[in-house]
Amino acid sequence: MVTTPRTVAVFGAGYIGLVTGACLAELGHRVTVRDVQPERIRLLNGGEVPIHEPGLGDLIAANKERLTFTLEAHTALKDAEIAYVCVDTPPTASGDADLSRVWSVIDTLKGAPHLAAVVVKSTVPVGTGERVRAALDEAGLAHVGYAANPEFTAEGKAVDDFLHPDRIVIGTSDARTDRLIRELHDGVDGPVQTLSVASAEMVKLAANALLATKITFINEIATVCEATGADVEQVATAIGMDHRLGPHFLQAGLGYGGSCFPKDSRALRAMASNSGYPFQLLNSVIEVNDLQPRRAIQRLKTELGGLKGRRVALLGMTFKAGTDDLREAPSAVVAARLLAENATVHCWDPMARPADVTPWNATTRHPSPADALCDADAALVVTEWPELREVDWASAGRTMRRRLLFDGRNTLDPDALVSAGFTYMSVGRATVRPAAP
Ligand code: UGA
Repeated sequence: MVTTPRTVAVFGAGYIGLVTGACLAELGHRVTVRDVQPERIRLLNGGEVPIHEPGLGDLIAANKERLTFTLEAHTALKDAEIAYVCVDTPPTASGDADLSRVWSVIDTLKGAPHLAAVVVKSTVPVGTGERVRAALDEAGLAHVGYAANPEFTAEGKAVDDFLHPDRIVIGTSDARTDRLIRELHDGVDGPVQTLSVASAEMVKLAANALLATKITFINEIATVCEATGADVEQVATAIGMDHRLGPHFLQAGLGYGGSCFPKDSRALRAMASNSGYPFQLLNSVIEVNDLQPRRAIQRLKTELGGLKGRRVALLGMTFKAGTDDLREAPSAVVAARLLAENATVHCWDPMARPADVTPWNATTRHPSPADALCDADAALVVTEWPELREVDWASAGRTMRRRLLFDGRNTLDPDALVSAGFTYMSVGRATVRPAAP
């Protein structure tokens, strides 16, 4: 528990706001989370968690004395000493971050009686903090400190990432605010780095862009492996043993997705372009990542001798395993491409929330991998769900029209699939086929 419990208002009850609010309450602070969506607040007040995030429900339940939810900004701000801005910053048509939700939070702060600091956790372009500082001064809040405190939590392990981070980054020029945020994190197990507001804003964008680049690099190596006979899994393992490179984010697949990497890399590119600098490396990363799921469909098409009229079992819809999030998932591109080629698409995912948007409304959803595989001409693994390793592939294969599996995440055992009679395709490795009878 912290030595000085603080009263905190968290704006935004999405992945970041809820995890921040619940973790700060766990550390001993009094937290009110405010969101503008009535349904979200109704669920939270009824003890339900509107998103899937391991450990979050338990944390909210365990801290309910110190954690409340409201639709009203003035309720959240009544006693608040610190206001955390955790709203989303989606891309606009130009690729820039849409900051309208950040500004509407800032607009509510005027007159908050006990406010000592405003902290932005949302991912924002460099320079936003300076503009927020000016807006606070203009609103008569010159006495209120400002800090950027970007988050580095990954969906599926956000609670653990918050409580045991690699680092806490505090961007502020004000020693009092720095101290306040350091104290707020008392009990969190990780080093703290204080830097300028602009640098903190850049750390977030640069870290995500570098991770996206690392994934894209290994996906490019995978393509070269396919052309030359090398095996990307063996290559990535050996590369990762070099301590200067490390083993993380070297998993080749259908490309990165989610609510962060695609949006943040485009926002950094837009930010660079706005200042007249074409960020060419990032341009290539974005382009290669867009191409990655399309390449997989092209390979499948060649293997099947065309996709028209083929039935494809699409296994996994979420952008990665362990989440219910479909945002920017490669599965949407894969499904849309298959439909455009006049294939039929039968999906399975253990957690994806129903999404009414195309292409999903033109596909059929099944309750198990075995159901989705029935009568299929091919299976395509899009998300590395552990459930797929439990499938009895020999029996599932007997229900398929053709035993062909494209493992878009290199998550299954090629030998087991080939023994079950499958032709096994994957990313960055040679296709393996059962021996001729
Ligand atoms: C990412 C970062 O990992 C967090 O540090 C950051 O805080 C967060 O974005 C954010 O900006 O909020 P997240 O998007 O939840 O977190 O997911 P990751 O686990 O990083 O995966 C992103 C995508 O990359 C997924 O589609 C995943 O399948 C893909 N990926 C990841 C690969 O294709 N290969 C890999 O080796 C690793």
